[in-house]
Amino acid sequence: MDDIMAFETVALDDENSALVIIDQTKLPGEIKMLHLKTQKEIRDAIYLLQVRGAPAIGVAAGYGIYLAAKALDTEDYQTFLEGFRTAKEYLNSARPTAVNLSWALNRMEQVVLDNADSSIAQLKKLLHDQCEAIKAEDVAMCRAIGEYGLSLIKDGDGILTHCNAGQLATSRYGTALAPIHLGREKGMNFRVYTDETRPLLQGARLSAFEMAADGVDTTVICDNMASQVMKNGWVNAVFVGCDRVAANGDACNKIGTSGVAILARYYGIPFYVLGPTSTIDMSIQSGDEIVIEQRPAHEVTEMWYARRMAPEGVKVYNPAFDVTDHELITGIITEEGIAYPPYSESLKAIFERKNEKMHK
Ligand code: MRU
Repeated sequence: MDDIMAFETVALDDENSALVIIDQTKLPGEIKMLHLKTQKEIRDAIYLLQVRGAPAIGVAAGYGIYLAAKALDTEDYQTFLEGFRTAKEYLNSARPTAVNLSWALNRMEQVVLDNADSSIAQLKKLLHDQCEAIKAEDVAMCRAIGEYGLSLIKDGDGILTHCNAGQLATSRYGTALAPIHLGREKGMNFRVYTDETRPLLQGARLSAFEMAADGVDTTVICDNMASQVMKNGWVNAVFVGCDRVAANGDACNKIGTSGVAILARYYGIPFYVLGPTSTIDMSIQSGDEIVIEQRPAHEVTEMWYARRMAPEGVKVYNPAFDVTDHELITGIITEEGIAYPPYSESLKAIFERKNEKMHK
Protein backbone atom coordinates (compact mmCIF):
# COMPACT_ATOMS: atom_id res chain seq x y z
CA MET A 1 0.00 0.00 0.00
CA ASP A 2 1.07 3.61 -0.57
CA ASP A 3 2.80 5.41 2.30
CA ILE A 4 0.11 7.36 4.18
CA MET A 5 2.76 9.86 5.35
CA ALA A 6 3.21 11.03 1.74
CA PHE A 7 -0.44 12.10 1.44
CA GLU A 8 -1.78 15.51 2.38
CA THR A 9 -4.54 15.29 4.99
CA VAL A 10 -6.23 18.47 3.71
CA ALA A 11 -5.50 20.42 0.52
CA LEU A 12 -7.08 22.94 -1.82
CA ASP A 13 -7.53 22.27 -5.53
CA ASP A 14 -8.26 25.86 -6.49
CA GLU A 15 -8.36 25.19 -10.22
CA ASN A 16 -11.24 22.76 -9.75
CA SER A 17 -12.72 24.61 -6.75
CA ALA A 18 -12.48 21.54 -4.53
CA LEU A 19 -11.39 20.67 -1.01
CA VAL A 20 -9.27 17.52 -1.21
CA ILE A 21 -9.07 15.25 1.82
CA ILE A 22 -8.11 11.70 2.68
CA ASP A 23 -11.33 9.88 3.60
CA GLN A 24 -10.31 8.86 7.14
CA THR A 25 -13.36 6.63 7.58
CA LYS A 26 -11.80 4.26 5.02
CA LEU A 27 -8.43 3.99 6.77
CA PRO A 28 -6.43 1.86 7.17
CA GLY A 29 -8.00 -0.44 4.55
CA GLU A 30 -8.01 2.01 1.69
CA ILE A 31 -6.40 5.37 0.97
CA LYS A 32 -9.18 7.19 -0.84
CA MET A 33 -9.04 10.88 -1.72
CA LEU A 34 -12.27 12.89 -1.76
CA HIS A 35 -12.74 16.00 -3.92
CA LEU A 36 -15.47 17.99 -2.19
CA LYS A 37 -17.13 20.83 -4.05
CA THR A 38 -20.43 21.71 -2.39
CA GLN A 39 -20.87 23.18 1.07
CA LYS A 40 -23.00 20.17 2.02
CA GLU A 41 -20.23 17.77 1.00
CA ILE A 42 -17.71 19.75 3.08
CA ARG A 43 -19.94 20.02 6.16
CA ASP A 44 -20.86 16.33 5.94
CA ALA A 45 -17.18 15.37 5.66
CA ILE A 46 -16.47 17.20 8.93
CA TYR A 47 -19.52 15.75 10.72
CA LEU A 48 -18.84 12.19 9.48
CA LEU A 49 -15.15 12.43 10.50
CA GLN A 50 -13.90 11.93 6.96
CA VAL A 51 -11.68 14.84 7.97
CA ARG A 52 -11.16 15.08 11.74
CA GLY A 53 -8.80 16.23 14.44
CA ALA A 54 -9.03 19.83 15.67
CA PRO A 55 -6.31 21.47 13.50
CA ALA A 56 -7.35 19.57 10.33
CA ILE A 57 -10.97 20.60 10.87
CA GLY A 58 -9.80 24.23 11.11
CA VAL A 59 -7.81 24.01 7.89
CA ALA A 60 -10.72 22.28 6.10
CA ALA A 61 -13.13 24.97 7.33
CA GLY A 62 -10.79 27.71 6.05
CA TYR A 63 -10.70 26.13 2.61
CA GLY A 64 -14.43 25.40 2.76
CA ILE A 65 -15.43 28.98 3.48
CA TYR A 66 -13.03 30.23 0.80
CA LEU A 67 -14.76 27.98 -1.75
CA ALA A 68 -18.16 29.25 -0.59
CA ALA A 69 -16.99 32.86 -0.96
CA LYS A 70 -15.44 32.17 -4.35
CA ALA A 71 -18.79 30.89 -5.62
CA LEU A 72 -20.71 34.01 -4.49
CA ASP A 73 -21.86 35.72 -7.66
CA THR A 74 -22.17 39.38 -6.66
CA GLU A 75 -20.23 42.64 -6.86
CA ASP A 76 -22.03 44.11 -3.85
CA TYR A 77 -20.15 44.03 -0.52
CA GLN A 78 -23.23 43.67 1.73
CA THR A 79 -24.62 40.80 -0.35
CA PHE A 80 -21.18 39.17 -0.30
CA LEU A 81 -20.91 39.55 3.49
CA GLU A 82 -24.38 38.07 4.01
CA GLY A 83 -23.59 35.10 1.75
CA PHE A 84 -20.28 34.62 3.57
CA ARG A 85 -21.97 34.63 6.97
CA THR A 86 -24.62 32.13 5.91
CA ALA A 87 -21.90 29.73 4.74
CA LYS A 88 -19.91 30.38 7.92
CA GLU A 89 -22.81 29.45 10.20
CA TYR A 90 -23.50 26.34 8.14
CA LEU A 91 -19.93 25.04 8.35
CA ASN A 92 -19.61 26.05 12.01
CA SER A 93 -22.60 23.84 12.89
CA ALA A 94 -20.78 20.66 11.76
CA ARG A 95 -19.17 19.93 15.15
CA PRO A 96 -19.31 21.95 18.41
CA THR A 97 -16.26 21.02 20.47
CA ALA A 98 -13.00 21.68 18.61
CA VAL A 99 -12.46 25.43 18.79
CA ASN A 100 -10.30 25.39 15.65
CA LEU A 101 -13.45 25.24 13.51
CA SER A 102 -14.84 28.59 14.69
CA TRP A 103 -11.32 29.97 15.11
CA ALA A 104 -10.55 29.45 11.39
CA LEU A 105 -13.97 30.70 10.26
CA ASN A 106 -13.68 33.84 12.42
CA ARG A 107 -10.21 34.49 11.08
CA MET A 108 -11.54 34.26 7.52
CA GLU A 109 -14.49 36.54 8.36
CA GLN A 110 -12.09 39.13 9.78
CA VAL A 111 -10.47 39.39 6.33
CA VAL A 112 -13.86 40.30 4.84
CA LEU A 113 -14.56 42.83 7.62
CA ASP A 114 -11.10 44.43 7.48
CA ASN A 115 -11.28 44.95 3.72
CA ALA A 116 -14.76 46.34 3.18
CA ASP A 117 -13.37 48.85 0.65
CA SER A 118 -11.84 46.17 -1.57
CA SER A 119 -13.46 44.84 -4.71
CA ILE A 120 -15.09 41.41 -4.48
CA ALA A 121 -12.35 39.99 -6.71
CA GLN A 122 -9.71 41.36 -4.32
CA LEU A 123 -11.61 39.97 -1.33
CA LYS A 124 -11.65 36.52 -2.90
CA LYS A 125 -7.90 36.73 -3.46
CA LEU A 126 -7.31 37.83 0.15
CA LEU A 127 -9.46 34.95 1.41
CA HIS A 128 -7.47 32.54 -0.72
CA ASP A 129 -4.22 33.81 0.77
CA GLN A 130 -5.63 33.62 4.30
CA CYS A 131 -6.76 29.99 4.07
CA GLU A 132 -3.40 28.98 2.61
CA ALA A 133 -1.73 30.89 5.48
CA ILE A 134 -3.81 28.94 8.02
CA LYS A 135 -2.51 25.71 6.55
CA ALA A 136 1.12 26.85 6.31
CA GLU A 137 1.01 28.05 9.92
CA ASP A 138 -0.47 24.72 10.99
CA VAL A 139 2.54 22.88 9.56
CA ALA A 140 4.96 25.28 11.28
CA MET A 141 3.09 25.08 14.61
CA CYS A 142 3.07 21.28 14.56
CA ARG A 143 6.78 21.19 13.85
CA ALA A 144 7.50 23.54 16.74
CA ILE A 145 5.25 21.50 19.06
CA GLY A 146 7.14 18.41 17.95
CA GLU A 147 10.50 19.98 18.81
CA TYR A 148 9.32 20.98 22.30
CA GLY A 149 7.79 17.56 22.87
CA LEU A 150 10.92 15.80 21.69
CA SER A 151 12.97 17.72 24.25
CA LEU A 152 11.05 15.85 26.98
CA ILE A 153 11.73 12.28 25.82
CA LYS A 154 14.70 10.14 24.88
CA ASP A 155 15.46 7.46 22.34
CA GLY A 156 13.72 4.18 23.19
CA ASP A 157 11.09 5.70 25.50
CA GLY A 158 7.59 4.26 25.75
CA ILE A 159 4.83 6.76 24.90
CA LEU A 160 1.13 6.12 25.35
CA THR A 161 -1.33 8.09 23.23
CA HIS A 162 -5.10 8.24 22.95
CA CYS A 163 -7.15 8.90 19.80
CA ASN A 164 -5.23 10.29 16.83
CA ALA A 165 -3.44 13.59 17.21
CA GLY A 166 -0.99 12.76 14.45
CA GLN A 167 -0.41 13.90 10.90
CA LEU A 168 -3.89 12.67 9.98
CA ALA A 169 -5.36 15.19 12.42
CA THR A 170 -3.32 18.15 11.15
CA SER A 171 -1.66 19.42 7.97
CA ARG A 172 1.60 17.70 8.84
CA TYR A 173 3.39 15.95 11.73
CA GLY A 174 0.46 16.15 14.17
CA THR A 175 0.58 17.45 17.71
CA ALA A 176 0.82 14.54 20.19
CA LEU A 177 2.60 12.42 17.58
CA ALA A 178 4.78 15.21 16.17
CA PRO A 179 7.65 14.49 18.61
CA ILE A 180 7.65 10.89 17.43
CA HIS A 181 7.70 11.81 13.72
CA LEU A 182 10.45 14.40 14.31
CA GLY A 183 12.39 11.88 16.37
CA ARG A 184 12.17 9.45 13.45
CA GLU A 185 13.63 12.13 11.15
CA LYS A 186 16.61 12.26 13.55
CA GLY A 187 17.00 8.47 13.53
CA MET A 188 15.41 7.86 16.95
CA ASN A 189 12.81 5.25 17.79
CA PHE A 190 10.17 4.95 20.45
CA ARG A 191 7.72 2.32 21.68
CA VAL A 192 4.29 3.80 21.07
CA TYR A 193 1.16 2.37 22.69
CA THR A 194 -1.98 3.51 20.90
CA ASP A 195 -5.24 3.15 22.81
CA GLU A 196 -7.71 1.81 20.25
CA THR A 197 -10.08 4.65 21.29
CA ARG A 198 -13.64 3.40 21.36
CA PRO A 199 -16.05 3.94 19.74
CA LEU A 200 -14.57 5.27 16.49
CA LEU A 201 -11.17 3.61 16.81
CA GLN A 202 -9.01 6.58 15.85
CA GLY A 203 -6.14 4.99 17.79
CA ALA A 204 -6.31 1.56 16.20
CA ARG A 205 -7.19 2.69 12.69
CA LEU A 206 -5.27 5.96 12.40
CA SER A 207 -2.52 6.40 15.02
CA ALA A 208 -1.30 2.83 14.69
CA PHE A 209 -1.41 3.17 10.91
CA GLU A 210 0.64 6.36 10.73
CA MET A 211 3.07 5.25 13.45
CA ALA A 212 3.73 1.92 11.70
CA ALA A 213 4.07 3.74 8.35
CA ASP A 214 6.84 5.85 9.93
CA GLY A 215 8.63 2.74 11.14
CA VAL A 216 7.72 3.21 14.82
CA ASP A 217 7.57 0.25 17.21
CA THR A 218 3.77 0.37 17.61
CA THR A 219 1.47 -1.61 19.91
CA VAL A 220 -2.31 -1.27 19.81
CA ILE A 221 -4.09 -1.79 23.12
CA CYS A 222 -7.78 -1.74 24.03
CA ASP A 223 -8.61 1.33 26.09
CA ASN A 224 -9.05 -0.78 29.23
CA MET A 225 -5.49 -2.14 28.97
CA ALA A 226 -3.75 1.19 29.59
CA SER A 227 -3.56 0.60 33.35
CA GLN A 228 -1.84 -2.75 32.92
CA VAL A 229 0.62 -1.34 30.36
CA MET A 230 1.49 1.47 32.77
CA LYS A 231 1.78 -0.94 35.70
CA ASN A 232 4.22 -3.03 33.62
CA GLY A 233 6.48 0.03 33.54
CA TRP A 234 6.34 0.34 29.77
CA VAL A 235 5.21 3.97 29.60
CA ASN A 236 7.59 6.90 30.21
CA ALA A 237 5.13 9.62 29.20
CA VAL A 238 1.59 10.11 27.91
CA PHE A 239 1.16 12.45 24.93
CA VAL A 240 -2.36 13.43 23.90
CA GLY A 241 -3.91 16.12 21.70
CA CYS A 242 -6.70 18.53 22.55
CA ASP A 243 -9.84 19.99 21.00
CA ARG A 244 -10.25 22.98 23.29
CA VAL A 245 -8.19 24.13 26.27
CA ALA A 246 -9.70 26.58 28.76
CA ALA A 247 -7.81 29.52 30.31
CA ASN A 248 -7.28 27.49 33.53
CA GLY A 249 -5.65 24.59 31.61
CA ASP A 250 -8.63 22.19 31.64
CA ALA A 251 -8.17 20.26 28.40
CA CYS A 252 -10.93 18.73 26.33
CA ASN A 253 -9.94 15.81 24.12
CA LYS A 254 -11.31 12.52 22.83
CA ILE A 255 -13.54 10.63 25.26
CA GLY A 256 -11.37 8.49 27.52
CA THR A 257 -8.51 10.96 27.78
CA SER A 258 -9.38 12.00 31.34
CA GLY A 259 -9.29 8.35 32.44
CA VAL A 260 -5.79 8.02 31.00
CA ALA A 261 -4.74 11.15 32.92
CA ILE A 262 -6.08 9.69 36.17
CA LEU A 263 -4.17 6.45 35.57
CA ALA A 264 -0.99 8.35 34.71
CA ARG A 265 -1.23 10.28 37.99
CA TYR A 266 -1.67 7.03 39.93
CA TYR A 267 1.41 5.46 38.32
CA GLY A 268 3.49 8.67 38.51
CA ILE A 269 3.80 9.03 34.73
CA PRO A 270 3.99 12.55 33.22
CA PHE A 271 0.86 13.44 31.25
CA TYR A 272 1.31 16.06 28.51
CA VAL A 273 -1.31 17.78 26.36
CA LEU A 274 0.04 18.94 22.99
CA GLY A 275 -1.77 21.50 20.87
CA PRO A 276 -1.38 24.75 18.93
CA THR A 277 -2.45 28.05 20.47
CA SER A 278 -5.38 27.97 18.01
CA THR A 279 -6.83 25.21 20.24
CA ILE A 280 -6.57 27.31 23.40
CA ASP A 281 -9.77 29.23 24.09
CA MET A 282 -8.85 32.02 26.52
CA SER A 283 -12.46 33.25 26.41
CA ILE A 284 -13.58 30.38 28.66
CA GLN A 285 -12.44 30.11 32.26
CA SER A 286 -12.76 26.35 32.74
CA GLY A 287 -13.66 23.10 31.01
CA ASP A 288 -17.21 23.35 32.40
CA GLU A 289 -17.98 25.84 29.63
CA ILE A 290 -17.06 23.45 26.81
CA VAL A 291 -19.92 21.98 24.77
CA ILE A 292 -19.36 18.24 24.45
CA GLU A 293 -20.53 16.75 21.18
CA GLN A 294 -22.95 13.83 21.52
CA ARG A 295 -22.72 11.29 18.70
CA PRO A 296 -25.29 8.76 17.39
CA ALA A 297 -25.93 5.50 19.26
CA HIS A 298 -25.09 3.20 16.35
CA GLU A 299 -21.40 4.17 16.69
CA VAL A 300 -21.42 2.24 19.97
CA THR A 301 -23.86 -0.57 19.27
CA GLU A 302 -23.16 -1.54 15.65
CA MET A 303 -20.33 0.25 13.91
CA TRP A 304 -17.24 -1.93 13.37
CA TYR A 305 -19.08 -5.09 14.51
CA ALA A 306 -20.11 -7.78 12.00
CA ARG A 307 -23.49 -7.71 13.71
CA ARG A 308 -25.16 -5.55 16.34
CA MET A 309 -23.64 -6.12 19.80
CA ALA A 310 -26.11 -4.36 22.12
CA PRO A 311 -29.76 -5.24 22.58
CA GLU A 312 -32.22 -3.32 20.39
CA GLY A 313 -33.72 -0.36 22.19
CA VAL A 314 -31.06 -0.09 24.92
CA LYS A 315 -30.07 3.44 25.93
CA VAL A 316 -26.65 4.64 24.72
CA TYR A 317 -24.52 7.49 26.07
CA ASN A 318 -21.99 8.50 23.44
CA PRO A 319 -20.10 11.71 24.25
CA ALA A 320 -17.27 12.32 21.78
CA PHE A 321 -15.00 14.15 24.24
CA ASP A 322 -14.21 14.62 27.91
CA VAL A 323 -12.35 17.25 29.92
CA THR A 324 -9.17 16.45 31.78
CA ASP A 325 -8.83 18.53 34.93
CA HIS A 326 -5.83 20.89 34.75
CA GLU A 327 -4.52 19.43 38.02
CA LEU A 328 -3.76 16.15 36.24
CA ILE A 329 -1.75 17.76 33.43
CA THR A 330 2.05 17.90 33.76
CA GLY A 331 2.48 20.39 30.92
CA ILE A 332 0.71 21.88 27.89
CA ILE A 333 3.01 21.90 24.87
CA THR A 334 2.31 24.63 22.32
CA GLU A 335 4.27 26.09 19.40
CA GLU A 336 5.19 28.98 21.71
CA GLY A 337 6.71 26.76 24.38
CA ILE A 338 5.64 24.51 27.25
CA ALA A 339 3.15 25.85 29.76
CA TYR A 340 3.42 24.48 33.32
CA PRO A 341 1.07 24.99 36.28
CA PRO A 342 -0.38 27.35 37.28
CA TYR A 343 -1.91 27.44 33.80
CA SER A 344 -3.98 30.56 34.39
CA GLU A 345 -0.62 32.38 34.43
CA SER A 346 1.49 30.33 32.02
CA LEU A 347 -1.12 30.23 29.23
CA LYS A 348 -1.59 33.98 29.51
CA ALA A 349 2.19 34.41 29.20
CA ILE A 350 2.21 32.22 26.09
CA PHE A 351 -0.36 34.46 24.39
CA GLU A 352 1.51 37.61 25.44
CA ARG A 353 4.66 36.17 23.86
CA LYS A 354 2.75 35.29 20.70
CA ASN A 355 1.21 38.76 20.43
CA GLU A 356 4.58 40.43 20.95
CA LYS A 357 6.04 38.37 18.09
CA MET A 358 3.13 39.25 15.82
CA HIS A 359 3.57 42.97 16.41
CA LYS A 360 7.35 43.03 16.00
O1 MRU B 1 -13.47 13.12 16.98
P1 MRU B 1 -12.10 13.41 16.48
O2 MRU B 1 -11.44 12.25 15.82
O3 MRU B 1 -12.06 14.66 15.63
O4 MRU B 1 -11.28 13.73 17.81
C1 MRU B 1 -9.93 14.10 17.67
C2 MRU B 1 -9.22 14.31 18.96
O5 MRU B 1 -9.78 14.22 20.03
C3 MRU B 1 -7.79 14.76 18.85
O6 MRU B 1 -7.03 14.27 19.91
C4 MRU B 1 -7.73 16.29 18.85
O7 MRU B 1 -8.60 16.81 17.90
C5 MRU B 1 -6.36 16.80 18.59
S1 MRU B 1 -5.82 16.51 16.94
C6 MRU B 1 -4.27 17.16 16.78
